[in-house]
Amino acid sequence: MKINKFKLERYFAIYEFSTKYLLSPSDCESLTMQELIDNADEDSLRMWHNLKLGYTESMGHPVLREEIARFYNNIEADNVITAVPEEAIFITMHALLEENDHVVIIDPVYQSLKEIPASIGCSITHWRMEEKDGHWHLDIDLLEESITPETKMLIINFPHNPTGYLPALEKFNKIIGIARKHNIYIFSDEMYWLLEHGKDMRLPPAADCYEKAISLFGLSKTFSLPGLRVGWIATQEDELLDRLSSLKDYTTICGSAPAEILAIMALRQKEAILEANKERIRDNLEAAREFFTNYGRLFTWLEPGGGSTAFIRLNPEIDVVELCKKIVEEKSIMIVPGEIFDYEGNYFRVGLGRNNFKTILHELEAFFLQEQAKFSMKNF
Ligand SMILES: Cc1ncc(COP(=O)(O)O)c(C=O)c1O
Repeated sequence: MKINKFKLERYFAIYEFSTKYLLSPSDCESLTMQELIDNADEDSLRMWHNLKLGYTESMGHPVLREEIARFYNNIEADNVITAVPEEAIFITMHALLEENDHVVIIDPVYQSLKEIPASIGCSITHWRMEEKDGHWHLDIDLLEESITPETKMLIINFPHNPTGYLPALEKFNKIIGIARKHNIYIFSDEMYWLLEHGKDMRLPPAADCYEKAISLFGLSKTFSLPGLRVGWIATQEDELLDRLSSLKDYTTICGSAPAEILAIMALRQKEAILEANKERIRDNLEAAREFFTNYGRLFTWLEPGGGSTAFIRLNPEIDVVELCKKIVEEKSIMIVPGEIFDYEGNYFRVGLGRNNFKTILHELEAFFLQEQAKFSMKNF
């Protein structure tokens, strides 16, 4: 298989564990094992203590699949297969796509969502997001225009990484309607689901609304547990689930036994975990909005609707890639430039889910104040 390097993951591989400050992570502050155990219910603690470290069921632990099914209205435990989120993307694209299929993919996008279809030999139309009136925007007409008789799949991701874009329900329903009209699959990456910033902004999972939709969700972002490596696919397409489990035989075969029990524990504490993350994001979002609008000559703040990231424009004519390089070298602050998402323009991502976000903003401010003179000279 020929596949391009995953720029974002390679970037994190360089900086994530060697840099003092991360301004751009997409996950929320990780839970400790102790926190998870301290708040566990008796039944999952019993499963934890009696756990035998054998192979596990290929589709996922039956109790875990039951817990997962509670998120959905039209999905039963049998409509779920667990997998590492990244693995779920890989096996689903391989199960559904073939060479010369046409795929429409929102842009910018988490790279594997476009790179795996490209490696299979699909032709791709990018459904490009644009900024409009201080927000990110997706044009439905562009989607209609992109669809051809060869279109097999539409790939979406709401709330969106990196922009935090979240369409209104009406627009989401239109997207589903277009897919249904043309009989195409929707792969809906919902990794940031439940992290909506406003009341009544939560979208239903696509798999609940459309028989040819595949919803991806997991514990890496919303649940503060990326180290568990637990995610899942929910879909009403029974035949697809069989194909996914056959492909999983060539990736991980089955989930990790301890991770499955810890995942059950986490899902049974979902209200508390979710509330803590929403509170942290609310607080950081407020600080980010204030900081980036205060420095309005330097930045254009683009308000996210959900998720744990925002995608901000750097205004001066300075190459954002060069700037991020300088900041990481001089201040040990890692920032992901838009170029890592192959998105043109001077954008960068900030992550709103971590405890030290405000400290990092403070450090960033010190950097910009120190460099003020150079910025007014419009070169760096
Ligand atoms: C939109 C999106 N989908 C999928 C993933 C993959 O999740 P994981 O790293 O837990 O495999 C990520 C991770 O950043 C993501 O942002």
